[in-house]
Amino acid sequence: MGFQKFNFKEEIMNEIKKVGYTIPTPIQENAIPHIMEGKDVLGLAKTGTGKTATFVLPLLEKLKRGDKNVKALIIAPTRELAEQINSTITQLGNGTSLKNCVIYGGVSSKIQIDNLKKGMDIVVGCPGRLLDLLNQGFLKLNKLEVLVLDEADHMFDMGFLNDIRKIIKQTPVKKQNLLFSATMPVEIKKLVSEILKEPVIIEVEHNEAIKKIEQFLIKVENISKKSQLLDTLEKLSFDSLIIFTKNKHKAKNLSRILESKNYNSVSFQGDLPQSRREKALDGFRKGEYKVLVATDIAARGLDIPQVTHIINYDMPDTVAAFTHRSGRTGRAGKSGVVISFATKEESKIIQEIEKLNKTVFTKTTSRYRLEEKEGYQAVKTIEKKENNFKNKEGNRERNKEGNKEGNKNSQKKYKK
Ligand SMILES: Nc1ncnc2c1ncn2[C@@H]1O[C@H](COP(=O)(O)OP(=O)(O)OP(=O)(O)O)[C@@H](O)[C@H]1O
Ligand SMILES: [Mg+2]
Repeated sequence: MGFQKFNFKEEIMNEIKKVGYTIPTPIQENAIPHIMEGKDVLGLAKTGTGKTATFVLPLLEKLKRGDKNVKALIIAPTRELAEQINSTITQLGNGTSLKNCVIYGGVSSKIQIDNLKKGMDIVVGCPGRLLDLLNQGFLKLNKLEVLVLDEADHMFDMGFLNDIRKIIKQTPVKKQNLLFSATMPVEIKKLVSEILKEPVIIEVEHNEAIKKIEQFLIKVENISKKSQLLDTLEKLSFDSLIIFTKNKHKAKNLSRILESKNYNSVSFQGDLPQSRREKALDGFRKGEYKVLVATDIAARGLDIPQVTHIINYDMPDTVAAFTHRSGRTGRAGKSGVVISFATKEESKIIQEIEKLNKTVFTKTTSRYRLEEKEGYQAVKTIEKKENNFKNKEGNRERNKEGNKEGNKNSQKKYKK
């Protein structure tokens, strides 16, 4: 059975059909029933596996228009991701009477304030402007029913955490909280208990990433990176390519170099005014640009199905960032290729990537291909745990059990 099992209203089912979803993805299959029941959920599943619809569909089903209060707030780390989520809500919610809008910085707040005055059921936004409008009294969250943090681990990064805490302070204690990401580093997982109450944790773990997204490594010297890139591009047959650099300046310069070599390239980085950011990303989505040279602002959540290749011109700082960058290709079951340039100094992050994915970069001809380690069997597991995040006295025993259980499971997972 497809989406029928969720018993969504006809107007929602019609839109699901229109967008062409027939079978729920594993995260949708497992998380939607819990979300419908009103539980707090931490949903962890690979990039490109439909986490957005996992939280959007239950919101559309559950929320009722009728007053002007904001009933659901979705917080995302970048303006473009907020726009994308808002479009998904508009698309899937086309048959409902719910109203939704976006709130983020870098643009005039007038339209955003006007929208809020009209009364929005669902607001999607980025922390800074959300907090501004909250403090100015234009945004009120005292009737909030559901809070969603997309890219949850990233929202706990130091850059966002304070604003997130301040926003949450202005929401009712009793509400449903939903957290989603493809990654959840252990040290950040601890912070999750600040927000989630007795959560259901759905972890869809499948190493199909290794099969669907081919990973290559090219060992380079800093000095020869540019010529290596031009050489690689000459040999590469790509539809749509994102090149990641470590800073804005490099993204801008590298894109200029590529344009001068007649590549249809545009840079996408935080120094651009919002209108240029929009123009770059829209143009890239439409295929007007074949190459997007970007910083990590393009690493999370963006769904551009035609991206066939990713090049890490500079390696990212963390394995999570590597995972998210890689995930801009190979969306919704498609395949993709990631080529990473790594200098000697970046060998540590390479080792961490190999360790986390239980893989190894094996030398082929001039480059290294990421392969499964001998004896390692890719598996797909879905874990559900409850209550094991609580730190309160009364829950200690339960915590221990939960952790033990988790350890047992992970041992099982990687046994041959
Ligand atoms: N059940 C489904 N069947 C087919 N396609 C789907 C289904 N659910 C979602 N999709 C499509 O899969 C693509 C990826 O979805 P989405 O952007 O929600 O992934 P994600 O899990 O949030 O990824 P990321 O971790 O990168 O944010 C989108 O184009 C979406 O329309
Ligand atoms: Mg997403």
